[in-house]
Amino acid sequence: MRITVSLIKADVGGLAGHVVVHPKLEELARKRLEEARETGLLIDFYVYHVGDDLQLLMTHTKGENNAEIHKLAWDIFVEVTEKVSKPLKLYGAGQDLLKDTFSGNIKGMGPGCAEMEFEERRSEPILVFSADKTEPGAWNYKLYRIFADPFNTAGLIIDPAMHSGFIFEVVDVYEHKSVKLSTPEESYDLLALIGTPGRYVVKRVYRKSDGEIAAVSSATRLSLIAGRYVGKDDPVLIIRAQHGFPATGEVLEAFAFPHLVAGWMRGSHTGPLMPVPLRYAQCTRFDGPPRVVGLGFQLHDGRLEGPVDLFDDPAFEMTRRMAEEVADYMRRHGPFMPHRLGPEEMEYTTLPSVLEKLKARFVPAEAE
Ligand code: 13P
Ligand code: 13P
Ligand code: MG
Ligand code: MG
Ligand code: MG
Repeated sequence: MRITVSLIKADVGGLAGHVVVHPKLEELARKRLEEARETGLLIDFYVYHVGDDLQLLMTHTKGENNAEIHKLAWDIFVEVTEKVSKPLKLYGAGQDLLKDTFSGNIKGMGPGCAEMEFEERRSEPILVFSADKTEPGAWNYKLYRIFADPFNTAGLIIDPAMHSGFIFEVVDVYEHKSVKLSTPEESYDLLALIGTPGRYVVKRVYRKSDGEIAAVSSATRLSLIAGRYVGKDDPVLIIRAQHGFPATGEVLEAFAFPHLVAGWMRGSHTGPLMPVPLRYAQCTRFDGPPRVVGLGFQLHDGRLEGPVDLFDDPAFEMTRRMAEEVADYMRRHGPFMPHRLGPEEMEYTTLPSVLEKLKARFVPAEAE
């Protein structure tokens, strides 16, 4: 049976600033998705949040980029904005809804979207990851570790189905172009690109031996749609695990190191990506630190069995502790780079208008 998994998310308003999604937003979204399940449009769904981003995980048989599915998600984001966020005056009501009218595909309209279609295997473990206060390029490091680094993923050495490696599809989000690179032989070329996560974003990963889809992320830049700072494109990621793909534990292993990502406080700072259980899926200190939640499901005929709250475990306590120490260390830099992002990333924030005012006061400098 061919199943499509669609994970579509948006920030449509935060409680007490950019901290967390209001429970009433999730309630109404659940109600609408339940109705869509009853009509048969959806097989199953799961609603959750990370920070101020509302997450709609859906399964169906309509394929990727389906207008009905995308419209369902768009209409829900609009309705919860109108019926909950605006009356309660939640912060940034409808923040990620950048367009007025739906035109067939939610991509390019503000919400983030990751979708994959595949033939459901005899057993199909699916892992979904959602992060807040960061950007889609945050997955680059994780995806490289999971699908290309044998020091992370033992299966690259041991499993014949994975031994020939994976193909990474990388998007240049400024030029709207993409390139496919094959690992392990083009690993260094891949790293030359994805080490710049603000520009080159891993969109999909395929298994080389048979071309099966292994992972897909949301890869958008809100500021490039809106032309100004409108928060970060807090990203999502779907990964298939086990039996010819990395084991669940190999996927999770990449999250044990809280690597530095862009997007903390005003989308303008670097901080560690902290893996947290759903109960800590809120952003507090300096509107962060950037957080990621991970949920594990087993699919059966498209139904979502689960979830397992993957980071709700003492095995990730040391990671969280390290993230706290790194957060503290980074914070002590205050407004200095590299805690604050570089000028090319600050271009879409409100900093240029501050600098503009100083322009007239510059005089020629004395000869050195
Ligand atoms: P089990 O014996 O617990 O199924 O372990 C399988 C495995 O190799 C996990 O990495
Ligand atoms: P969000 O994209 O999560 O709304 O982040 C806004 C922000 O910059 C908070 O400091
Ligand atoms: Mg927000
Ligand atoms: Mg957010
Ligand atoms: Mg955002």
